[in-house]
Amino acid sequence: MKVFASSDLPANALAPLRDYCDLDVWEHTHPIPAEQLRSRLDGCFGLLCLLTNRVDAPLLDGLAELQAVSSMSVGVDHIDVDRLTELGIPLGNTPGVLVDATADLTLALMLAAARRIGEADRFVRAGHWNVQRPWHPNMMVGKDLAGATLGVLGLGAIGQAVAQRAAAFGMRVIGWNRTPRKLPGVENVSLDSLIAESDVLSVHVALTDETRMLIDSNAIAAMKSDAIIINTARGGIVDEHALAAALNSGKLFAAGIDVFGQEPVAAGNPLLSLDNVILAPHIGSATEQTRARMAALAVDNMIAALEGRRMPHCANPEVYQQR
Ligand code: GLV
Repeated sequence: MKVFASSDLPANALAPLRDYCDLDVWEHTHPIPAEQLRSRLDGCFGLLCLLTNRVDAPLLDGLAELQAVSSMSVGVDHIDVDRLTELGIPLGNTPGVLVDATADLTLALMLAAARRIGEADRFVRAGHWNVQRPWHPNMMVGKDLAGATLGVLGLGAIGQAVAQRAAAFGMRVIGWNRTPRKLPGVENVSLDSLIAESDVLSVHVALTDETRMLIDSNAIAAMKSDAIIINTARGGIVDEHALAAALNSGKLFAAGIDVFGQEPVAAGNPLLSLDNVILAPHIGSATEQTRARMAALAVDNMIAALEGRRMPHCANPEVYQQR
């Protein structure tokens, strides 16, 4: 059976897969163009992909032999999951293993935004910290996390791990989830209250039709003045133009953004020119250990499919009921 992997994977994770299938690998760092993906997938049983590959209905509909898709990501918004389910094709993903790494990055961005770390770093490097501008009581003052209210938007595993870390920093934690979740140390509130009460709002919902642009200009207008927004989930959930306008006008104090509506971020993105936003190139899960675990899980999912077993982590488990 043939499997196409749209990238080599860390920690030599693809090696075991070669014992189970005829493996074809896209060896470049840039994502495979859609047309080439279509032709490389011809006759393939499986696709092992990344979040940079669009796996949509037009692609899937032309692939009669495809039986399994495994993505090295927890998010599956790059994939038409409904179409896969209609076709009875299981979709593997990698939940769980990236929770701590993503929660750590969230706290890193939160601290960096509250304490103006990006701006401070640029200030020192540029030689602006000099005898004309020595240490001063008003220099680079930021916000305390201790005593501030953190609003966790989405109380899945990553949201919960962020809540735990924030509690250790002395924050009051409120949370909103579509289905409220009773969690120690987290007060469940309505979405409106979350938006209105948070000093720091951190986004941890998946990108779906329901959450697209959930934090739009109206939501931002309803936030406290001087609040901070952190997004390590998906770009499409926060309106970047509204965010940039609020950061620019001083309505919001700062933001920490790891994910963008368009990735890699477009040169004209208004966030790029603002000092009070700390940016990262979608690195929530980027630790050696986490990326190795994600790769291993993505491969385990594909091996299970090749052996006719249930994938250990399947994003559309209903396909197994259909069989
Ligand atoms: C990262 O964003 C992932 O979905 O794994």
